[in-house]
Amino acid sequence: MNVRIGYGEDAHRLESGLPLTLAGLVIEGSPHGAVAHSDGDAVLHAVADALLSALALGDIGKLYPDTDLKWRGLDSSVILKDVLARVTKLGWRIGNVACVVTLDQPKLGSRRDLMAAKLASLLEIPSGDVGLSFKTSEGLATAHVQTRVTVLLVRS
Ligand code: C5P
Ligand code: MG
Repeated sequence: MNVRIGYGEDAHRLESGLPLTLAGLVIEGSPHGAVAHSDGDAVLHAVADALLSALALGDIGKLYPDTDLKWRGLDSSVILKDVLARVTKLGWRIGNVACVVTLDQPKLGSRRDLMAAKLASLLEIPSGDVGLSFKTSEGLATAHVQTRVTVLLVRS
């Protein structure tokens, strides 16, 4: 097979007074942010898990345990970069990434292009290969962010 698909998810509880970081960007003006050991970036965590799952490499908890001081509290982009290096070394490249963010507040539509550009630069792919969809929970989970990501890998 010359293509592989991967899938990843993440979720964080949100509390007021904390910064909200998604796709490597701090979402200015957010009324709340993720409760997490790290920066709580639910987009980068789900993308990293999607990449690892595509190649059956396990997940970020297995490879970057927060019980290990080396990884504790680390910027998620560092973990994503390490995952990308593993993918590349095994002879694969990213075809495209599709990400759904479920979040009631704030609305993210005005930041879609910025977030896609940032994620694309971290993944070293064109912005046009990063799809971002935003959903509310329709009030079912107002203090919660959830992400779901699929990725296509192509043999390089
Ligand atoms: O969840 P719902 O379908 O009602 O969301 C309607 C639209 O609101 C979405 O298609 C998306 O364009 C936008 N949205 C957003 N930021 C969010 C949630 C939804 O821009 N945090
Ligand atoms: Mg709807």
